[in-house]
Amino acid sequence: ILTTFIFSISAYFLGALNGAILLCKFKGWPDPRLHGSKNPGATNILRIHHAQAASLVLLFDLLKGTFPVYLAYFVGIPPIGIGLIGIATCLGHIFPPYFDFKGGKAVATGLGTLLPLGMDMTGLVVITWLLTVAISGYASLAAIITALAAPVFVHYIKPEFTLPVLMLSCLIILRHISNIRRLLTGKEKKIVNWKQ
Ligand code: G3P
Repeated sequence: ILTTFIFSISAYFLGALNGAILLCKFKGWPDPRLHGSKNPGATNILRIHHAQAASLVLLFDLLKGTFPVYLAYFVGIPPIGIGLIGIATCLGHIFPPYFDFKGGKAVATGLGTLLPLGMDMTGLVVITWLLTVAISGYASLAAIITALAAPVFVHYIKPEFTLPVLMLSCLIILRHISNIRRLLTGKEKKIVNWKQ
């Protein structure tokens, strides 16, 4: 229990290192929380800067999600503890103490925490996201649909992780309320537009 607690606290502070905010600080760019969708994440970095910067943010936020969960798995922490550590990493990303507790939506970080669950889980989640983006053009809708599908996938692949994945999905969907509002009013911006 103590190991899980120490891991969770460390994971929270690691998760709080927001890739988009740090990259913008490093490059001398304005705070991404003031531009575009105002979300400090890879999608918004793509929107206000370019694909190269967005890929860097995606990779950073993804790996910081993977690392603690993988390490916890490696040292033999039981599934419930691993789940808590994954959630703690995402909570750090969403509520970062270093950045006024105003963080991102934990899509990349959440995906990162799922990678250690295996190729089948990762593949299904990534394909769901990509297919939704390809069909709709919306990154946010893709994140929401994937968050809805992930607990179903994990239930069949690694049922012992269903509860934490369900909690993670709820967190991600709650963070997309402003996107849902924009999607419903037709104001959401697409990240790919096939008609252009
Ligand atoms: O990964 C976050 C994405 O789902 C939505 O980002 O910037 O469009 O709010 P954004």
